[in-house]
Amino acid sequence: MQAYIQGRNVNLTFRPPNRGPVRALQGFDIDVREGEFLSIVGPSGCGKSTFLNVLLGLIKPDSGDLTLGGKPIAGPGTDRAMVFQEFGLLPWRTVQSNVELGLELKGMPAGDRRTISQRLIEMVGLRGFESHYPHELSGGMKQRVGLARALATDPDVLLMDEPFAALDAQTRDLMQVELLRIWQEAKKTVLFVTHQIEEAIYLSDRVMVMTKRPGQAKKLFPIDLPRPRDYEMRVTPEFNELKFAIWQSLKDEITA
Ligand SMILES: Nc1ncnc2c1ncn2[C@@H]1O[C@H](COP(=O)(O)OP(=O)(O)O)[C@@H](O)[C@H]1O
Ligand SMILES: [Mg+2]
Repeated sequence: MQAYIQGRNVNLTFRPPNRGPVRALQGFDIDVREGEFLSIVGPSGCGKSTFLNVLLGLIKPDSGDLTLGGKPIAGPGTDRAMVFQEFGLLPWRTVQSNVELGLELKGMPAGDRRTISQRLIEMVGLRGFESHYPHELSGGMKQRVGLARALATDPDVLLMDEPFAALDAQTRDLMQVELLRIWQEAKKTVLFVTHQIEEAIYLSDRVMVMTKRPGQAKKLFPIDLPRPRDYEMRVTPEFNELKFAIWQSLKDEITA
Protein backbone atom coordinates (compact mmCIF):
# COMPACT_ATOMS: atom_id res chain seq x y z
CA MET A 1 0.00 0.00 0.00
CA GLN A 2 1.15 3.50 -0.78
CA ALA A 3 2.15 5.60 2.23
CA TYR A 4 0.66 9.05 2.83
CA ILE A 5 3.99 10.63 1.96
CA GLN A 6 6.08 8.26 -0.08
CA GLY A 7 9.52 8.83 -1.54
CA ARG A 8 11.20 6.21 -3.70
CA ASN A 9 14.75 6.49 -4.96
CA VAL A 10 14.74 10.28 -4.88
CA ASN A 11 17.91 11.74 -6.41
CA LEU A 12 18.97 15.34 -6.49
CA THR A 13 22.24 16.98 -7.55
CA PHE A 14 22.79 20.73 -7.24
CA ARG A 15 24.70 22.23 -10.17
CA PRO A 16 25.92 25.66 -9.07
CA PRO A 17 27.31 27.69 -11.98
CA ASN A 18 30.61 28.52 -10.32
CA ARG A 19 31.67 25.15 -8.85
CA GLY A 20 31.29 21.42 -9.23
CA PRO A 21 28.01 19.54 -8.80
CA VAL A 22 26.87 18.62 -5.27
CA ARG A 23 25.01 15.36 -4.86
CA ALA A 24 22.54 16.14 -2.07
CA LEU A 25 20.16 13.17 -2.14
CA GLN A 26 20.79 9.75 -3.57
CA GLY A 27 18.37 6.85 -3.50
CA PHE A 28 16.41 8.53 -0.74
CA ASP A 29 13.37 6.52 0.42
CA ILE A 30 10.76 7.56 2.92
CA ASP A 31 7.30 6.50 4.10
CA VAL A 32 5.26 8.73 6.37
CA ARG A 33 1.83 7.82 7.72
CA GLU A 34 -0.98 10.31 7.83
CA GLY A 35 -0.97 12.12 11.16
CA GLU A 36 2.47 10.82 12.04
CA PHE A 37 5.16 12.85 13.78
CA LEU A 38 8.42 11.84 12.12
CA SER A 39 11.76 13.39 12.94
CA ILE A 40 14.86 13.34 10.77
CA VAL A 41 18.36 13.54 12.21
CA GLY A 42 21.56 13.44 10.19
CA PRO A 43 24.97 15.06 9.86
CA SER A 44 25.19 18.71 8.78
CA GLY A 45 24.92 19.06 5.03
CA CYS A 46 23.45 15.58 4.46
CA GLY A 47 20.40 16.89 2.60
CA LYS A 48 17.73 17.32 5.30
CA SER A 49 16.71 20.85 4.31
CA THR A 50 16.97 19.85 0.68
CA PHE A 51 14.47 17.07 1.24
CA LEU A 52 12.02 19.37 3.03
CA ASN A 53 12.30 21.83 0.14
CA VAL A 54 11.60 19.04 -2.31
CA LEU A 55 8.51 18.07 -0.30
CA LEU A 56 7.44 21.69 -0.19
CA GLY A 57 7.67 21.71 -3.97
CA LEU A 58 10.38 24.37 -4.22
CA ILE A 59 13.04 22.07 -5.67
CA LYS A 60 12.42 19.38 -8.24
CA PRO A 61 14.42 16.17 -7.84
CA ASP A 62 16.35 14.83 -10.85
CA SER A 63 14.66 11.47 -10.57
CA GLY A 64 12.62 9.27 -8.26
CA ASP A 65 9.01 9.25 -7.12
CA LEU A 66 7.57 11.45 -4.43
CA THR A 67 3.87 11.43 -3.65
CA LEU A 68 1.59 13.01 -1.10
CA GLY A 69 -1.81 11.42 -0.61
CA GLY A 70 -1.12 9.32 -3.71
CA LYS A 71 -0.45 12.32 -5.97
CA PRO A 72 2.97 13.37 -7.27
CA ILE A 73 4.35 16.60 -5.82
CA ALA A 74 4.38 19.02 -8.73
CA GLY A 75 5.01 22.32 -6.93
CA PRO A 76 4.10 24.30 -3.84
CA GLY A 77 0.57 23.95 -2.48
CA THR A 78 -1.51 25.04 0.48
CA ASP A 79 -1.58 21.44 1.73
CA ARG A 80 2.02 21.92 3.00
CA ALA A 81 3.64 24.61 5.13
CA MET A 82 7.16 25.16 6.43
CA VAL A 83 8.42 26.48 9.75
CA PHE A 84 11.99 27.79 9.56
CA GLN A 85 14.82 27.98 12.08
CA GLU A 86 15.15 31.74 11.57
CA PHE A 87 11.37 32.22 11.93
CA GLY A 88 11.03 33.97 8.56
CA LEU A 89 8.74 36.73 9.87
CA LEU A 90 8.25 39.97 7.97
CA PRO A 91 9.61 42.72 10.27
CA TRP A 92 7.21 45.42 9.02
CA ARG A 93 4.14 43.36 9.79
CA THR A 94 2.49 42.87 13.18
CA VAL A 95 1.97 39.45 14.76
CA GLN A 96 -1.56 39.29 13.43
CA SER A 97 -0.57 40.42 9.96
CA ASN A 98 2.29 37.89 9.84
CA VAL A 99 -0.09 35.10 10.83
CA GLU A 100 -2.55 36.19 8.13
CA LEU A 101 0.03 36.36 5.35
CA GLY A 102 -0.87 33.06 3.66
CA LEU A 103 -4.59 33.81 3.95
CA GLU A 104 -4.06 37.21 2.37
CA LEU A 105 -2.21 35.57 -0.53
CA LYS A 106 -5.21 33.28 -0.96
CA GLY A 107 -7.44 36.37 -1.22
CA MET A 108 -9.46 35.70 1.92
CA PRO A 109 -11.52 38.68 3.16
CA ALA A 110 -10.20 40.51 6.25
CA GLY A 111 -13.04 39.42 8.55
CA ASP A 112 -12.48 35.73 7.85
CA ARG A 113 -8.72 36.16 8.17
CA ARG A 114 -9.18 37.71 11.56
CA THR A 115 -11.33 34.87 12.86
CA ILE A 116 -8.65 32.37 11.91
CA SER A 117 -5.66 34.40 13.11
CA GLN A 118 -7.37 35.10 16.47
CA ARG A 119 -7.92 31.40 17.06
CA LEU A 120 -4.33 30.51 16.17
CA ILE A 121 -2.77 33.37 18.14
CA GLU A 122 -4.75 32.09 21.09
CA MET A 123 -3.65 28.52 20.39
CA VAL A 124 0.05 29.38 20.42
CA GLY A 125 -0.36 31.48 23.56
CA LEU A 126 0.16 34.96 22.09
CA ARG A 127 -3.14 36.59 22.97
CA GLY A 128 -2.57 40.29 23.67
CA PHE A 129 0.41 40.48 21.30
CA GLU A 130 -1.58 40.81 18.06
CA SER A 131 -0.32 44.30 17.27
CA HIS A 132 3.30 43.74 18.33
CA TYR A 133 6.09 43.71 15.74
CA PRO A 134 8.64 40.86 15.53
CA HIS A 135 11.45 42.95 17.08
CA GLU A 136 9.30 43.36 20.19
CA LEU A 137 9.13 39.59 20.73
CA SER A 138 11.48 37.02 22.26
CA GLY A 139 12.81 34.15 20.13
CA GLY A 140 10.25 31.74 21.54
CA MET A 141 7.42 34.15 20.78
CA LYS A 142 8.68 34.68 17.23
CA GLN A 143 8.64 30.96 16.66
CA ARG A 144 5.09 30.77 18.01
CA VAL A 145 4.16 33.32 15.34
CA GLY A 146 5.97 31.21 12.74
CA LEU A 147 3.97 28.19 13.85
CA ALA A 148 0.65 30.05 13.86
CA ARG A 149 1.37 31.39 10.38
CA ALA A 150 2.16 27.89 9.09
CA LEU A 151 -1.07 26.55 10.58
CA ALA A 152 -3.22 29.44 9.28
CA THR A 153 -3.81 27.97 5.84
CA ASP A 154 -4.75 24.68 7.53
CA PRO A 155 -2.11 22.55 5.77
CA ASP A 156 -2.21 18.76 6.11
CA VAL A 157 1.56 18.58 6.40
CA LEU A 158 3.83 20.69 8.56
CA LEU A 159 7.50 20.76 7.59
CA MET A 160 9.76 21.97 10.37
CA ASP A 161 13.42 22.70 9.66
CA GLU A 162 15.31 22.91 12.97
CA PRO A 163 12.56 25.21 14.25
CA PHE A 164 13.85 25.41 17.81
CA ALA A 165 17.59 25.57 17.12
CA ALA A 166 17.82 29.32 17.73
CA LEU A 167 16.05 29.15 21.11
CA ASP A 168 17.59 28.85 24.57
CA ALA A 169 17.29 25.45 26.26
CA GLN A 170 14.39 26.30 28.57
CA THR A 171 12.33 27.99 25.86
CA ARG A 172 13.04 25.05 23.63
CA ASP A 173 11.68 22.60 26.22
CA LEU A 174 8.53 24.69 26.53
CA MET A 175 8.08 24.91 22.76
CA GLN A 176 8.36 21.13 22.47
CA VAL A 177 5.51 20.68 24.94
CA GLU A 178 3.45 23.30 23.07
CA LEU A 179 4.15 21.69 19.72
CA LEU A 180 2.96 18.28 20.93
CA ARG A 181 -0.21 19.84 22.28
CA ILE A 182 -0.86 21.64 18.99
CA TRP A 183 -0.02 18.56 16.93
CA GLN A 184 -2.51 16.50 18.93
CA GLU A 185 -5.16 19.20 18.66
CA ALA A 186 -4.67 20.09 14.98
CA LYS A 187 -3.97 16.51 13.78
CA LYS A 188 -1.26 17.35 11.25
CA THR A 189 1.40 15.16 9.72
CA VAL A 190 4.72 16.58 10.90
CA LEU A 191 8.21 16.18 9.44
CA PHE A 192 10.63 17.62 11.92
CA VAL A 193 14.35 18.11 11.30
CA THR A 194 16.56 18.50 14.34
CA HIS A 195 20.13 18.02 15.53
CA GLN A 196 18.99 17.09 19.01
CA ILE A 197 18.38 13.37 19.46
CA GLU A 198 16.52 13.92 22.73
CA GLU A 199 14.15 16.37 21.07
CA ALA A 200 13.53 13.92 18.22
CA ILE A 201 12.69 11.06 20.60
CA TYR A 202 10.54 13.16 22.89
CA LEU A 203 8.36 14.42 20.02
CA SER A 204 8.19 11.61 17.53
CA ASP A 205 6.41 8.45 16.53
CA ARG A 206 9.52 7.50 14.56
CA VAL A 207 13.00 8.91 14.10
CA MET A 208 14.87 8.58 10.82
CA VAL A 209 18.66 8.71 10.77
CA MET A 210 20.17 9.86 7.47
CA THR A 211 23.62 9.00 6.13
CA LYS A 212 26.15 11.67 5.34
CA ARG A 213 25.84 13.36 1.94
CA PRO A 214 24.55 12.27 -0.52
CA GLY A 215 21.73 11.74 1.93
CA GLN A 216 19.97 8.42 2.18
CA ALA A 217 17.64 6.97 4.78
CA LYS A 218 19.92 4.92 7.02
CA LYS A 219 17.68 3.62 9.78
CA LEU A 220 14.22 4.15 11.24
CA PHE A 221 13.66 3.97 14.97
CA PRO A 222 10.07 3.48 16.18
CA ILE A 223 9.51 5.43 19.40
CA ASP A 224 7.09 3.26 21.33
CA LEU A 225 6.84 5.53 24.35
CA PRO A 226 3.37 6.29 25.70
CA ARG A 227 1.58 9.58 25.02
CA PRO A 228 0.92 12.12 26.34
CA ARG A 229 4.60 12.48 27.11
CA ASP A 230 6.07 14.34 30.02
CA TYR A 231 9.46 15.69 30.86
CA GLU A 232 10.22 12.91 33.39
CA MET A 233 10.07 10.41 30.55
CA ARG A 234 13.53 11.63 29.51
CA VAL A 235 15.19 9.95 32.48
CA THR A 236 13.66 6.49 31.94
CA PRO A 237 15.86 3.57 30.82
CA GLU A 238 13.70 3.15 27.66
CA PHE A 239 14.35 6.73 26.63
CA ASN A 240 18.07 6.46 27.24
CA GLU A 241 18.35 3.18 25.35
CA LEU A 242 16.77 4.84 22.33
CA LYS A 243 19.02 7.85 22.71
CA PHE A 244 22.07 5.63 22.77
CA ALA A 245 20.97 3.54 19.77
CA ILE A 246 20.21 6.60 17.64
CA TRP A 247 23.47 8.23 18.67
CA GLN A 248 25.38 5.06 17.66
CA SER A 249 23.74 5.10 14.24
CA LEU A 250 24.38 8.82 13.75
CA LYS A 251 27.92 8.81 15.12
CA ASP A 252 29.15 6.50 12.35
CA GLU A 253 27.98 9.05 9.77
CA ILE A 254 29.69 11.96 11.46
CA THR A 255 33.03 10.26 12.07
CA ALA A 256 33.11 8.18 8.87
N1 LIG B 1 21.01 25.80 -3.73
C1 LIG B 1 22.11 25.05 -3.55
N2 LIG B 1 23.12 25.06 -4.45
C2 LIG B 1 24.20 24.30 -4.29
N3 LIG B 1 24.40 23.46 -3.26
C3 LIG B 1 23.44 23.39 -2.33
C4 LIG B 1 22.25 24.18 -2.40
N4 LIG B 1 21.47 23.91 -1.34
C5 LIG B 1 22.16 23.01 -0.61
N5 LIG B 1 23.33 22.68 -1.19
C6 LIG B 1 24.32 21.69 -0.72
O1 LIG B 1 23.63 20.44 -0.62
C7 LIG B 1 24.04 19.73 0.53
C8 LIG B 1 22.84 19.45 1.40
O2 LIG B 1 22.39 20.70 1.95
P1 LIG B 1 21.22 20.79 3.02
O3 LIG B 1 20.06 20.04 2.51
O4 LIG B 1 21.03 22.21 3.34
O5 LIG B 1 21.84 20.01 4.29
P2 LIG B 1 21.29 19.87 5.77
O6 LIG B 1 20.00 20.60 5.86
O7 LIG B 1 21.17 18.39 6.01
O8 LIG B 1 22.34 20.45 6.67
C9 LIG B 1 25.12 20.58 1.20
O9 LIG B 1 26.37 20.14 0.76
C10 LIG B 1 24.82 21.97 0.67
O10 LIG B 1 25.99 22.76 0.64
MG1 LIG C 1 19.47 22.25 7.02
